[in-house]
Amino acid sequence: MTELLYLAAAVLFIFGLKQLSGPRTARRGNVLAAGGMLLAVVVTLVDAAIVTWGTIIAGLATGTVIGAVLAARIQMTAMPQLVAAFNGFGGAASALVALAELERFDAVFAEETGVTVALSLLIGTVTFSGSFVAFAKLQGLVPGRPLLFPGAQVINATLGAGAVALGTWAVLADAAPAYWSIVAVAFVLGILGVTPIGGADMPVVISLLNSLSGVAAAMAGFVIGNSALIIGGALVGAAGFILTVLMGQAMNRSLANVLFSGFGTEGGPAVATGDKPVNRATPEDVAIAVGYASRVIIVPGYGLAVAQAQHAARDLANALEARGVTVEYAIHPVAGRMPGHMNVLLAEADVSYDLLLDLDQSNPRFPQTDVALIVGANDVVNPSARDDTTSPIYGMPILEVDRARNVVVVKRSLSPGFAGIDNPLFYLENTMMLFADAKAALESVLGALGDV
Ligand code: TAP
Repeated sequence: MTELLYLAAAVLFIFGLKQLSGPRTARRGNVLAAGGMLLAVVVTLVDAAIVTWGTIIAGLATGTVIGAVLAARIQMTAMPQLVAAFNGFGGAASALVALAELERFDAVFAEETGVTVALSLLIGTVTFSGSFVAFAKLQGLVPGRPLLFPGAQVINATLGAGAVALGTWAVLADAAPAYWSIVAVAFVLGILGVTPIGGADMPVVISLLNSLSGVAAAMAGFVIGNSALIIGGALVGAAGFILTVLMGQAMNRSLANVLFSGFGTEGGPAVATGDKPVNRATPEDVAIAVGYASRVIIVPGYGLAVAQAQHAARDLANALEARGVTVEYAIHPVAGRMPGHMNVLLAEADVSYDLLLDLDQSNPRFPQTDVALIVGANDVVNPSARDDTTSPIYGMPILEVDRARNVVVVKRSLSPGFAGIDNPLFYLENTMMLFADAKAALESVLGALGDV
């Protein structure tokens, strides 16, 4: 019965995960996977008969209240931190399971169990400490910039090799102190591994740590012989890794570059823009351009999220549609700072999923578009990624907004985006710059639209 119910939980995880791959079905997928997890937890506790029903219900109620309050109160822009904390707790839970087994059997394991205990401790603890450094960077508790220190890579490589040596000793000699030392080494490795990575790369790191938390859970599943934990962990491990790779591809950066290069200058020094002239626009100019267009594509970016301008964007789009203008949204896979950032914000503002175009759908449409309205996006529309082989982002696929008849860029200044580089788009003849906060700017354009 237990194994059958675990199988049911695994099926729920898999269907849930599948449904998470599209915005239309994602909510249902989340509920399915959560249902699978609830089933797996209850079955495990009842089967092991280690706790009473009262304890199970009290535990579930406490966890539900904490989770519900956190989820309800969290700002969308703080979502990466929340996921980082969840991953950290996941890693810690796996390491604690292994530690409990270590105490129970006094470090005397069959060799293969010893290996999985050592791996749970290593991966679980690295995930725990690394995730909380990521959390602290994103929450602004420690500086978000890459903190590079001399010899960092040599120290980390030595710590990694030390952990492997300790693991070998622990397994071969049934040595409890060696198992405990793995925890200490892994804790430091997690901290030193994440510290040199810039805050803006944290979403990629968090996705990788998410994958590691899954691997640690799968290892813990082997330790205690729990098939639901093995399957759940393996799914998280694989899904997290695929997401990490996809993010890297969308930025045209290797995982090694993300982990070791200290990339990213978020809010960093202004680039030398020279005295190149730009076409400054007023809200009225923009209202005329979009109000008399027949097709407008809105391109949201990180600045839209910062300004919380999604509702203003939707209101403007509704007003344009009422005038007979076709309005769609082009979403770059790494626009913003986390996967699906723009989709989630626009969904929050009740923008229909049918209007969201991905990279492949958008690019062929720009040449037939009257106005590409860029709201707080920068790197994802930078033509040098396509044209300039010397650019640091050369090769990153972009939204080719410069092929539209007119381009309007809404941002506060000529400051660079995450990649810290200038954007030739701003100086094109058919580009108008509306320098303002995204929300205020869109509201002014909407106000001005009434008069055109
Ligand atoms: P960015 O290139 O980072 O540009 C955002 C722009 O928003 C800035 O140039 C800034 O210009 C503007 N801005 C900030 N606050 C604003 C406000 N209140 N109102 C109006 N504009 C505002 O953003 P993007 O185009 O979305 O590109 C995302 C970048 O993040 C890419 O380089 C990507 O590789 C990287 N990244 C993404 C992810 C994921 S998964 N999404 C993960 C890691 C890294 P001003 O200061 O002049 O206003």
